[in-house]
Amino acid sequence: MQAGETNETPSLQEQIESLKQQLAHAQKMAALGELVSTTTHEYNNVLMTVINYAKMGLRHKDDKTRHKSFEKILAAGQRAAKITNGILGFARNRSDEFEPTDIVKLVDDALILLEREMSKYRISIERRLEENLPEAMVNTNQIQQVFLNLLTNSRQAMDGGGRILIKASHDAASGMIELVVRDNGAGIPEEKLRRIFDPYFSTKQGPDETGKGGTGVGLSMCRDIIEAHGGKIQVASKVGTGTAFTMFLPVAKATPAAPSPTITLGVHNAPNSCNS
Ligand SMILES: Nc1ncnc2c1ncn2[C@@H]1O[C@H](COP(=O)(O)OP(=O)(O)OP(=O)(O)O)[C@@H](O)[C@H]1O
Ligand SMILES: [Mg+2]
Repeated sequence: MQAGETNETPSLQEQIESLKQQLAHAQKMAALGELVSTTTHEYNNVLMTVINYAKMGLRHKDDKTRHKSFEKILAAGQRAAKITNGILGFARNRSDEFEPTDIVKLVDDALILLEREMSKYRISIERRLEENLPEAMVNTNQIQQVFLNLLTNSRQAMDGGGRILIKASHDAASGMIELVVRDNGAGIPEEKLRRIFDPYFSTKQGPDETGKGGTGVGLSMCRDIIEAHGGKIQVASKVGTGTAFTMFLPVAKATPAAPSPTITLGVHNAPNSCNS
């Protein structure tokens, strides 16, 4: 790539590369910070459940009440473990390796982390994940980050609540897994749709009360990540109807030499609504 170029060009490119890596790391840390603050509240709720049922079990000596208390404490403890495992998994996986990844698990792990936030904003989530979906060859953390970014954008586009549909399917012909995040939010006007993947393009005033949004780097980051996977990300949107992002990710057993990276910005008005 550097052949025939001046000496300065490679070092400039190296600097850009290094800055990109630093940005990716900073974004990951910011995403982690957001998740921690979201889930701390949820964690507190779980603890209150444990404390209250433990008190109830101590107060009432009869077997029936004690049994019920233990059941509630067990369920709350299991939920707490799920929450911390989700955060730890996100924090621990620092590798840049691509590995065979169960997309259904990736989706469910992310949803555990956003469960409380979604219900607070009165957003219901429907999962339509194909059975026996083959594993995708991806960096789990990065794709989870993309997925969380898309869910947060959808949530922010639905002021008075709404619905998010998550679909995952396998297209054997192309050897790709298709992952769709569709909302029935405000939608994006055509002149803006062309710019949403541009770095720093944002229509938001600033971070919302959860501390998210407004930087304009979310989607540009998503596109970079998907592109590095040899996949593509497309958007279809209609004002007043909603927005759908579709990601195509390579299946794990496909040749690792992977297709050449393509970015496709499918700018077209969606005939599809969230009700499909
Ligand atoms: N699901 C969506 N519905 C409506 N508009 C959207 C949706 N997703 C993205 N957008 C538009 O695209 C813009 C860019 O999104 P992007 O995620 O890159 O930045 P942001 O959300 O504004 O800030 P951040 O970098 O903090 O995520 C948003 O400001 C918004 O106008
Ligand atoms: Mg965003």
